[in-house]
Amino acid sequence: MTRTAVAALMAALAMGACAELPGMSAAPTPAATAPVQYVRDIHSYARPEIARVTHVDLDLTADFERKVLSGTAALDVTAEPGAGEIILDVRDLDIHAVRTADGPLEYTLGAHDPILGQPLTIALPFEAGRIFVDYSTRPGAEALQWLTPAQTAGGEKPYLFSQGQAILTRTWIPTQDSPGIRQTYSARIVAPAGLKAVMAAEMLTPEGEATPNGRAWRFRMTQPIPPYLIALGVGDLAFAPLGQRTGVYTEPSMLAGSAAEFTQVEAMVEAAEALYGPYRWGRYDLLVLPPSFPFGGMENPRLTFATPTIIAGDQSLVALVAHELAHSWSGNLVTNATWSDFWLNEGFTVYFENRIMEAVYGRERALMEQALSWRDLHAEMAELPPADTRLHLDLAGRNPDDGMTAVAYDKGALFLRTIEQTVGRERFDAWLRGYFDRNAFRPMTTAMFLEDIRAHLVRGDEALERALMLDAWIYQPGLPSNAVEPQSDAFAVVDAEVARFVAGTPAAQLRTDGWVTQQWQHFLGALPDGQDAARMADLDGAFGLSSSGNSEVLFAWLMNVVQNRYEPGVPALERFLTSMGRRKFTQPLYVALMAEGDWGPPIARRIYAQARPGYHPITTGSADPVVLGE
Ligand code: BES
Ligand code: ZN
Repeated sequence: MTRTAVAALMAALAMGACAELPGMSAAPTPAATAPVQYVRDIHSYARPEIARVTHVDLDLTADFERKVLSGTAALDVTAEPGAGEIILDVRDLDIHAVRTADGPLEYTLGAHDPILGQPLTIALPFEAGRIFVDYSTRPGAEALQWLTPAQTAGGEKPYLFSQGQAILTRTWIPTQDSPGIRQTYSARIVAPAGLKAVMAAEMLTPEGEATPNGRAWRFRMTQPIPPYLIALGVGDLAFAPLGQRTGVYTEPSMLAGSAAEFTQVEAMVEAAEALYGPYRWGRYDLLVLPPSFPFGGMENPRLTFATPTIIAGDQSLVALVAHELAHSWSGNLVTNATWSDFWLNEGFTVYFENRIMEAVYGRERALMEQALSWRDLHAEMAELPPADTRLHLDLAGRNPDDGMTAVAYDKGALFLRTIEQTVGRERFDAWLRGYFDRNAFRPMTTAMFLEDIRAHLVRGDEALERALMLDAWIYQPGLPSNAVEPQSDAFAVVDAEVARFVAGTPAAQLRTDGWVTQQWQHFLGALPDGQDAARMADLDGAFGLSSSGNSEVLFAWLMNVVQNRYEPGVPALERFLTSMGRRKFTQPLYVALMAEGDWGPPIARRIYAQARPGYHPITTGSADPVVLGE
């Protein structure tokens, strides 16, 4: 079908020619069973209201020599009568053939857009059936990182992992890559002998199956998920159980440390269920990746992917696990319909994460984390154009990654906390639990959220409507007047010591006994710029900051090192930037270095030249423009 044919069909549908269309039925239907309303997603070529993928079945072989995944994606598709074609999203894929069980299908690959990739338009011989796409990925596929043995903890075997969010799944799977188009999936992955494959799905072959060229591993995900959550890891992986339905996969040398860090994961799942209803995905496992993993964590269903930089030895950074677990409700169950609605995933999740932390680690810890979130939000809002400080974002012509700021996370969470404090926790929790139930396994837009909260929480109470300032939070820049700063007594203690240090008290005389990680983060974040080398040396000497084993503390210290041009701190900076590739740490450090006149840029370029080959494409994609100017 040509573009004009699609337009004609769309027009006919809009005039009501087909009453069966999702979301167009005239009869009122209870929300939980209502057909999905497809909204236009500007980051996908798919037209799901015309033809959509309902299931993806992968049969792929991982070739570590060539850094290529190749094989077949079998797609179950459903089309409206007369559709005649289906549009998929692909980027940097080599398509070898498109066919049905009976023979080849005609297809065209449209023009390549640097952000979106290409539409793959396939002629459909039926309204419902299975099509097969034979394809291979390219070594530069942005969703995939192929690690050499040297880049792993064990140093002997290669490793592969995927990262789909936001729009990278299309670089390794030809499907409709929009968060509003849920698909079930199954997979058979062939990997060289000696490696284990895991996926964000139910594992059907715990030991794998022998094949002529390695071992095959089979998986299935029977609940429909957005394609950004399809995920794969292949490596020398061992497993340790944490609880009844929880466990951790990682390289053998990392297993004991990971299991010790995550002893509270089962308790976190229980706390989350007690708050907002049953965990609906069966198992909850973690995969602790090699240090080049570009994010802190990724909420792949049943199998959270996590950076090893959260293994601090004292569980001080496990809020990240609470966060990814919370996404099992906010994000994986109720999913942002488009990336402009990203705050619905992340803001809800940061709020929920903090409730889990409060339940498992106590109120003081939760309050400190809220206070850090407030500080991050203000720091970042000061740098952003005002339009990007709104919760609902205009991403026209932009990469959805532009929306990955503290606004979605911390302003979003602050918004929900403001509502909680206004209506009281009991009422708020009842609404939120209902929101997850009513909207489970469905896409959510910002407008639908507003409808839901007005229908089920505000219920026409005009005084409450005014007090909440819902529209201002979502559509106005900055923070509305009802935002309340969290107060942490534990941080008040720290502020007093910052003041003493600034007034000249030697570091060794500061009262820091018993400080926890979050207090150190706050201390290092609150130090004013302009510390001379002697004061920096005093701090480092007293507290051993340059050799901290806690990645957040080390990062906060290194930001001071850069901003104060503290030369003796540079070796620690270099060690840190060459030993991990988590973008949350790499990006601010490189940006800060490049901002330090003629001192920082040469250091940035020297370290980057060394570190870059080990970084993930997502990390280099952000850092290249900053350090290399390209
Ligand atoms: N889903 C995000 C990661 C993400 C967002 C990847 C957008 C790609 C595009 C994940 O849940 C997340 O927010 N991770 C945070 C950690 C969290 C504790 C704030 C991270 O990686 O830093
Ligand atoms: Zn998140």
